[in-house]
Amino acid sequence: MDSFSTLIRTASHEQHVEAETSTFMSDLLGGRLGVDAYARYTEQLWFVYEALESGTQRLASDPVAGPFVRPELFRLAALERDLAHLRGPDWRSTLAALPATRAYAERIAACARDWPAGYIAHHYTRYLGDLSGGQIIRDKAEKTWGFTKKGDGVRFYVFEEIPNPAAFKRGYRELLDAVAVDDLEKQRIVAECKRAFALNTSVFRGLGEEFPLSA
Ligand code: HEM
Repeated sequence: MDSFSTLIRTASHEQHVEAETSTFMSDLLGGRLGVDAYARYTEQLWFVYEALESGTQRLASDPVAGPFVRPELFRLAALERDLAHLRGPDWRSTLAALPATRAYAERIAACARDWPAGYIAHHYTRYLGDLSGGQIIRDKAEKTWGFTKKGDGVRFYVFEEIPNPAAFKRGYRELLDAVAVDDLEKQRIVAECKRAFALNTSVFRGLGEEFPLSA
């Protein structure tokens, strides 16, 4: 039987392609959108990571989710620096979640509160993606809008405390393979992962509606 890390990766592959090729992502990575769209996207990420990281103190001692809580992954402080750069020191006063972002953050918060195994699905979907495709997004953002390489504006994508992302991802997959739940619960985690991807795609849809390309 396939390992759990292979299972979760294979099961979400189709939705990964869908997220990657969404209109908003394609336009953003194609350099067809202004920095305002990038800033608005970064704002949405703030709500997502606030939900992922605000309950970690309690989750850290959970037998199932605890091993995944790694401070070197935390992104909220980096996002706040990026937003101060993108929107100015008063960035909090204009920060607003799209309805899709609100739904996504609420689902993460509910898992963090009531279902630690489900929280793992959200953890995996975001952090492993950030360590992978996130690096492609950073490179494009630096080139398109002229941010300093690995500097303000793209700090979200820079994991200062993870010098070797490939090695980190290997360790992460070992954690997934060792997750202490039965097969049925593993299936539920996979289903939650698909839901996490769908929630991301719907944020992209909302952003796409806000930043349509004038044909
Ligand atoms: C244009 C946007 C994106 C690009 C270019 C991209 C690209 C990639 C690449 C190249 C990998 C390969 C990792 C590897 O083989 O080690 C990867 C993995 C991953 N991506 Fe993305 N990605 C994008 C968007 C997303 C989004 C929106 C999500 C979900 C929120 C996501 C979640 C993941 C996850 C969870 C993995 C890890 C798969 C695994 O090894 O288990 N990605 N991505």
